[in-house]
Amino acid sequence: GDTISVKDLAMKMNKSAGELIKKLMGLGVMATINQEVDVETAEILANEFGFEVDIKVDESTYDFIEEIEDDPADLVPRPCVVTVMGHVDHGKTSLLDAIRESNVTASEAGGITQHIGAYQVVHDGKKITFLDTPGHEAFTAMRARGAQVTDIAILVVAADDGVMPQTVEAINHSKAAEVPIIVAINKIDKPDARPERVMQELTEHGLVPEEWGGDTICVPVSAKTREGLENLLEMILLVAEVQELKANPKRLAKGTVIEAELDKGRGPVATVLVQTGTLKIGDSIVAGTAHGKVRAMIDDKGRRVKKAGPSTPVEVLGLSDVPQAGDIFHAVKDDKTAKTISEKRLAKKREEELKATTKVSLDDLFKQI
Ligand code: GTP
Ligand code: MG
Repeated sequence: GDTISVKDLAMKMNKSAGELIKKLMGLGVMATINQEVDVETAEILANEFGFEVDIKVDESTYDFIEEIEDDPADLVPRPCVVTVMGHVDHGKTSLLDAIRESNVTASEAGGITQHIGAYQVVHDGKKITFLDTPGHEAFTAMRARGAQVTDIAILVVAADDGVMPQTVEAINHSKAAEVPIIVAINKIDKPDARPERVMQELTEHGLVPEEWGGDTICVPVSAKTREGLENLLEMILLVAEVQELKANPKRLAKGTVIEAELDKGRGPVATVLVQTGTLKIGDSIVAGTAHGKVRAMIDDKGRRVKKAGPSTPVEVLGLSDVPQAGDIFHAVKDDKTAKTISEKRLAKKREEELKATTKVSLDDLFKQI
């Protein structure tokens, strides 16, 4: 992802690097003057000094679409979308697996779930969509394109390890995106688990647990023994309920590409999250610079489906090309429209690349002289 050095950021704000380093320490980031910080950290830092950061939108893959205005009467409740984040090895994948497994065994005995990087579970009759941590880069890319995919962030912190650098990064990302955080204090089955210490450390980063008078929900869990999972799901639904999430299922679909690859047999395959509208077989779509007609859709249980509504993750077959994670996709009125938009975007992208190379060669020339 994009980064900026502490020195450059300080210069932009007309502050001393020392002031920034001090603020960074307050945020739990140890930095030197030449250190590069990521976009989210820079944004939070800038905000601390009363500045706003403009994240530049990568327009080449976003342009040439007329946004649809929804009639408020068409808006209906949609499931919440949850992203799991946290430090390496703190148990993000294990937690997701545990949630999915319990859910699969409970609702559809013997059902084999296939990995598509995103899946849905039902708790108390309500759907929850989970996204496997899209790496921080994909997360940033999505935000840069104005795509807010997550409604709630689950911050996984291992009770035997505590708050670590990537925990802090995840906190900063969520804060910058203004996404509510629920903390899952994981691995409480371990003999050296210290959940209280984790809560103390979280407080130092501005997340004050509810039981200590703050507003951060902390749920002790174990992906291994499954303790606390029910409670975690309940907390997610509680937070989601307050958000009153809605979307219009009647319009042409729009969403975000979660991951994509070229499959030997099936061609380009994109896992997308439908965020609004309903995606149907036969729809003409554009995703970044790729376009095509939806030939088949496969849900998170490996079943072929004919349509996918808001907050539903599905695999889509039929694209001309492999889009990038974080690309926005739109269903459009016909093939011709999809093709034209994709061609215009490609042309614009090429033009920008050409501009970039011209600039580089001029710089090189300048250096030589
Ligand atoms: P990365 O994707 O590499 O960042 O890791 P992760 O956060 O997805 O962690 P992962 O789920 O791979 O778990 C890391 C290790 O911790 C594995 O060996 C798990 O078996 C173990 N682990 C995860 N959750 C628990 C838990 O609740 N209790 C215990 N005892 N071990 C756990
Ligand atoms: Mg993992």
